Amino acid sequence: MPIILHHLLLLSLFLTALPSAGWGLEILYPPDKAVVTRSDYLIVRGGETPLDGVVVEIKDYRSEMLEVGSNEYRAAFADFLIVAPVFDAGQNTIKVEGYAGGKVVATKTADIYFEASPLDPAPSSYRKVLMHTPQQEAVCAPCHKMNPDEKALASESPKVNPCASCHLRMLDVPNVHGPAGVWQCTYCHQTDSKPGRYQARPGDAEVCMECHEDKVQEFKGKKFVHGPIEAGMCLVCHDPHASNNPAQLVAPVNELCLRCHEEIGEKNHIVRGVGGKAHPLQGPENPAFPGKPFHCASCHDPHGGATEQYFQRDIANRMSLCQLCHKK
Ligand code: HEC
Ligand code: HEC
Ligand code: HEC
Ligand code: HEC
Ligand code: HEC
Ligand code: HEC
Ligand code: HEC
Ligand code: HEC
Repeated sequence: MPIILHHLLLLSLFLTALPSAGWGLEILYPPDKAVVTRSDYLIVRGGETPLDGVVVEIKDYRSEMLEVGSNEYRAAFADFLIVAPVFDAGQNTIKVEGYAGGKVVATKTADIYFEASPLDPAPSSYRKVLMHTPQQEAVCAPCHKMNPDEKALASESPKVNPCASCHLRMLDVPNVHGPAGVWQCTYCHQTDSKPGRYQARPGDAEVCMECHEDKVQEFKGKKFVHGPIEAGMCLVCHDPHASNNPAQLVAPVNELCLRCHEEIGEKNHIVRGVGGKAHPLQGPENPAFPGKPFHCASCHDPHGGATEQYFQRDIANRMSLCQLCHKK
């Protein structure tokens, strides 16, 4: 699968003219052996002697030469280069090459793991890393507001809220969760966590409950409650920030369900008579909700229901379920 490296080159910077001690290159984020849960940023930093350009390779994708040597570039970004990478789920090798005078003068590689789903955890040779440690934040502080006051944190404006200056990409998708969309990041993220700031408050469903009390009560009040809801795990299905899918689902519905119910994809589901064809499991139109697509959750309520199979709308038997869409 080809890897697309978006364009890129948003920024970088040069910290004044220090005495030349040779070319350097460092992959600041994500560092070697890191596990990442997002594919938003790759942050590279040059050494004391300015480079002319940088080439980034991720797996078999190779970027064009990213010019970092102009005076304008350095005035804004000094020796930093930040690109928007597209990591594949799983292992990725990142290679960066620094160029000066048409030659490669520095090379760095990092082997990282993109944990695209919690159901596909990284092997133990990779480790979680934090960006918001005091040491790393100090590197950004010359240009970014790293010690924001409460008033700035409470602001709903991306022009004022300090989280927005770096995390815009996270919300640059069609379905954004209410509080994230208005930059209330610190409703869920603690400003004083250790060893890194902004760790999420623990307690999955309990945190969701603070604003969705009715919903959570409604789900738990169903006669049969879906396994992950029973376990208080909203985040296995919903991204608390934003996603490409409706209801901020972490994957398209069928793909999401089949992550845990693989067997459903491997046999005929809802067989009609001996040798009968299987029922379609997805399509562009849901007859019961015109204008909505048809998928697993068109028949199954993802949170729970009145039957063991959580039929939609608390329908109590198979026949009535069929009649929801096939009126006869
Ligand atoms: C020399 C100044 C400078 C330093 C130091 C610096 N940045 Fe930036 N950064 C910028 C500028 C300029 C922008 C673009 C202007 C804006 O949107 O605020 C920016 C934007 C960003 C963005 C947003 C990219 C986008 O548009 O999606 C991220 C992420 C970012 N910086 C991360 C960092 C991190 C992390 C550090 C510290 C490790 C850091 N920067 C250090 C100048 C700097
Ligand atoms: C200087 C840029 C910058 C600013 C400002 C910033 N972040 Fe980050 N943050 C990053 C980068 C880069 C990462 C790692 C890559 C990613 O996840 O996008 C990160 C990671 C995180 C993480 C994951 C844990 C960690 O430490 O790696 C959380 C949570 C987070 N940021 C929350 C926030 C919140 C809340 C704010 C506002 C109070 C904020 N950030 C402001 C750049 C920034
Ligand atoms: C409704 C609660 C909630 C809000 C609001 C929220 N977050 Fe998070 N965030 C979480 C949780 C929970 C996690 C941990 C996810 C996990 O462990 O699966 C997280 C994780 C992260 C991470 C680590 C990468 C990842 O996706 O796991 C970053 C970066 C982050 N949040 C940034 C932000 C920023 C920036 C904002 C504001 C725009 C924000 N968050 C708003 C709950 C929230
Ligand atoms: C600070 C309050 C707050 C917290 C905490 C919160 N939400 Fe929300 N949520 C909202 C708001 C506001 C909306 C948008 C209004 C709406 O459509 O209901 C929303 C919308 C949603 C939607 C989309 C509803 C739709 O019809 O598409 C889902 C799904 C959702 N939240 C899930 C969660 C989950 C899961 C958690 C816990 C990780 C959570 N929320 C935590 C306030 C919150
Ligand atoms: C097994 C996956 C899964 C889990 C776990 C899950 N949801 Fe959902 N949720 C979905 C799906 C799928 C939809 C969209 C349904 C549709 O499009 O018909 C949805 C929709 C929603 C909606 C908007 C529509 C509605 O039903 O009101 C809210 C709010 C919501 N979920 C909250 C939560 C909360 C809170 C939790 C944790 C207690 C949770 N969900 C756990 C899969 C899940
Ligand atoms: C994180 C894993 C996970 C995801 C994702 C998930 N489920 Fe489940 N599901 C479970 C568990 C655990 C059970 C309860 C154990 C059991 O009875 O098999 C369950 C039970 C069920 C049952 C009842 C099974 C029975 O034998 O009666 C149905 C129906 C179901 N899920 C449908 C769905 C649908 C539809 C989706 C997608 C919206 C989905 N599941 C997503 C874990 C998951
Ligand atoms: C057209 C409606 C419909 C669709 C679409 C549908 N199911 Fe079902 N599902 C049922 C019915 C009805 C049953 C009860 C068993 C039966 O009657 O065959 C069931 C049973 C189940 C069960 C219980 C175990 C079993 O095999 O009986 C699971 C798990 C399940 N479905 C998951 C899914 C998943 C995952 C999807 C999407 C890939 C999906 N279903 C799509 C109607 C549907
Ligand atoms: C949520 C809506 C929905 C429910 C509930 C539902 N179906 Fe369907 N059914 C569909 C859709 C969509 C199609 C595809 C229609 C098409 O291709 O024109 C379909 C097609 C069919 C077909 C024709 C299949 C074919 O290959 O041509 C049969 C037979 C059928 N369904 C039987 C059932 C039975 C039996 C049940 C109850 C267990 C059921 N359906 C429940 C939506 C539903």
